[in-house]
Amino acid sequence: MSTAKLILDGQEFELPVVVGSEGEVGIDITSLRSKTGAISLDPGYGNTGACRSSITYIDGEKGILRYRGYPIEELVNSSLSFVDVSYLLIYGEMPDAQQKAEFSYLMTRNSTIHEGMKNFFDHYPPGTHPMAILSAMMASMSGYYPTEDDEGNIVRILAKAKTIAAYAYKKSIGEPFMYPVPKNSYAANILYMMFAHPREEYEVPEVLEKALRMLLILHGDHEQNCSTSTVRMVGSSGTNLFASISAAIMALWGPLHGGANQQVIEMLEHIRDNGGDYREYVDKAKDKDDPFRLMGFGHRVYKNFDPRAQILKKQCDDVLDYLGIQDPLLDIAKHLEDVALHDSYFIEKKLYPNVDFYSGIIYKALGIPTDMFTVMFALGRMPGWLAHFREMKHDHDTRINRPRQIYIGAGERHVSEDLAG
Ligand code: ACO
Repeated sequence: MSTAKLILDGQEFELPVVVGSEGEVGIDITSLRSKTGAISLDPGYGNTGACRSSITYIDGEKGILRYRGYPIEELVNSSLSFVDVSYLLIYGEMPDAQQKAEFSYLMTRNSTIHEGMKNFFDHYPPGTHPMAILSAMMASMSGYYPTEDDEGNIVRILAKAKTIAAYAYKKSIGEPFMYPVPKNSYAANILYMMFAHPREEYEVPEVLEKALRMLLILHGDHEQNCSTSTVRMVGSSGTNLFASISAAIMALWGPLHGGANQQVIEMLEHIRDNGGDYREYVDKAKDKDDPFRLMGFGHRVYKNFDPRAQILKKQCDDVLDYLGIQDPLLDIAKHLEDVALHDSYFIEKKLYPNVDFYSGIIYKALGIPTDMFTVMFALGRMPGWLAHFREMKHDHDTRINRPRQIYIGAGERHVSEDLAG
């Protein structure tokens, strides 16, 4: 299979076919417009490959997710840290002992933010969403590191993002900022900077650190999702890495993307506060005339199950058991999950619980406030965004991203005619 044939207005055109390393087939339409005068139309890009990539492989039908060839289940269940997996995602191979030591040193060295930036946190009105703060801080870093050194900036962003996130939280509750501790893992430092206080000793509970490590790794990359495509879209204009990541954070914030984890808990709380009748909400979700959707269900790519959700479902029970948490929200969540797995509407539309369904429940059990959930997702996704920016920069096929459109507006008309009428 090397070409595809297209018949347009009775005329036949040949288009090259591209096959990926896992057998994925794409029709290369880069010459479509010049050959035929026509363009492709694909709102939401569900059928459009925007690049060749060797970072992450997903088979949505089989529920497969691999980073650089390694199955997500193996990475999560290994002794690898989130920083090791970040290295793998960004540079393509597992770090050897020396690379691991060097990367870890760089992560520690770059983990504090410029002291001047701390003042920025004073000027957001109370209640500002931490995703807005994270994005603004990221863009501001271009002022502190005005360098074209993408490699150096990759490390700076990965190391500093968690510190910015934790500071945004500390500011919101009026507590002093805590510096990251060099001996702590990435996940432990997030918890330390959020929950430690200078007045008392704080040891990060191991089970919480493990749960957060797993959540971060599970969110590491997910090929050309909305926020990652944003990194590539914005970066394709030649703008700097900070601007691209700042834009990706904004894309992730949306409730149909990363913002869904916050929405899941808010939806469960809403159901609880209104008497706990989850069936009413299932009916609302099924009603064509009601825009309500069950948050945490469905996925553009996974049509059988989300492998990340399966891992988290088990972890969810373990964390809640360990913490001895009896959360009525979890009961509602379990009922909703049961409905989704048995109701014909959800079965026919292939709507399964996604990663956000369970991650919200675990974040809540970890003591992370609801509006920080999507920030946690952003921290996990950071290596994926950085890997895609780096790949895009090294890809000779990269051009400024500039889709076309099918115009459906008014035909030519003239101001003078309207004024005369
Ligand atoms: N509840 C009820 N119905 C749903 C849901 C849902 N959560 N999701 C999709 N549907 C229905 C739609 O109404 C549509 O029905 P129709 O064919 O009768 O019009 C059909 O299923 C297909 O839905 P689309 O929106 O076309 O699917 P798409 O692939 O564009 O969207 C998405 C996927 C955005 C995830 C969607 O399922 C959704 O909105 N889910 C809720 C939000 C959510 O959980 N987002 C997190 C995604 S995972 C992540 O970002 C990590």
